[in-house]
Amino acid sequence: MAKNVLQGKKGIIFGALDQNSIAWKAAERIYDEGGVFTLSNAPVAMRMGKINELGEKCKAVVIPADATSVEDLENLFTKSMETLGGKLDFILHSIGMSPNVRKGKDYGDLNYDWYLKTLDISGVSFHKVMQVAEKKDAMNEWGSILALTYIAAQRTFPDYADMAQAKAVLESVARSYGYRFARLKKVRVNTISQSPTMTTAGSGVPGFDVFFDYSDKMSPLGNASAADCANYIVAMFSDYTRMVTMQNLFHDGGFSNSGITEELVQKLSK
Ligand SMILES: NC(=O)c1ccc[n+]([C@@H]2O[C@H](COP(=O)([O-])OP(=O)(O)OC[C@H]3O[C@@H](n4cnc5c(N)ncnc54)[C@H](O)[C@@H]3O)[C@@H](O)[C@H]2O)c1
Repeated sequence: MAKNVLQGKKGIIFGALDQNSIAWKAAERIYDEGGVFTLSNAPVAMRMGKINELGEKCKAVVIPADATSVEDLENLFTKSMETLGGKLDFILHSIGMSPNVRKGKDYGDLNYDWYLKTLDISGVSFHKVMQVAEKKDAMNEWGSILALTYIAAQRTFPDYADMAQAKAVLESVARSYGYRFARLKKVRVNTISQSPTMTTAGSGVPGFDVFFDYSDKMSPLGNASAADCANYIVAMFSDYTRMVTMQNLFHDGGFSNSGITEELVQKLSK
């Protein structure tokens, strides 16, 4: 299926932890399409995950960075431009973590230090990434920057807890920085709102299996997989989508516009 639509493009991919990660699948597809990139993840995740395996497979240098640390990000951007031999055409922010969700905290009993961490890791870090990219003049004209989000930013999914606010921040940052980067460099900034996906971050949400099944039945095309998402990411990094910016793009098999589906009615009437 590869058509080399990313031939000659350079970038940074954040968030590949293991083979299930959306960023992992995206890296494989981007590599197939001729893109070159560095891979980054939090130092602690590098020890737990298998990112070096992916690095070997995609001939990508792995550079640790905690996405909440401006210093780490500055180092990452400098080293990435050195390694890749020039400025960047794409950035994938595929990062999310809530200590409150991870530790099973109820929404009425949140730890506020952790709440701020959730917002920083999963929302504000997107701003930090782009501010560092701007200050280092790291983007080429007509570049494309993406982050992954979830519909809990617009609608309530109780077990998603404080991640809902983090995703609302993330999507808002995409609009505000999208405006700025378009004027500065014709760079586009978007979020992809992805179906529930079986990954470490996804299955950390309580009751995820039931939720996954519900979403699948509520989506006329079914849930979009991580592999489908990787294809969409390739499209968004290609020159075929140059005028798409400041959007929250639903990649969810139709879930966001469905009221009810026959499949769900059948399941519930049993
Ligand atoms: N899985 C789902 O159901 C689903 C649905 C919609 C959106 N998303 C979003 O997709 C993105 C990728 O998640 P995934 O599902 O592939 O899970 P994943 O667990 O494979 O990826 C999340 C990544 O975030 C990284 N990370 C956490 N803290 C970090 C930090 N401080 N600095 C740098 N990296 C850090 C983790 O190490 C991990 O690699 C996240 O933004 C997630 O919210 C996931």
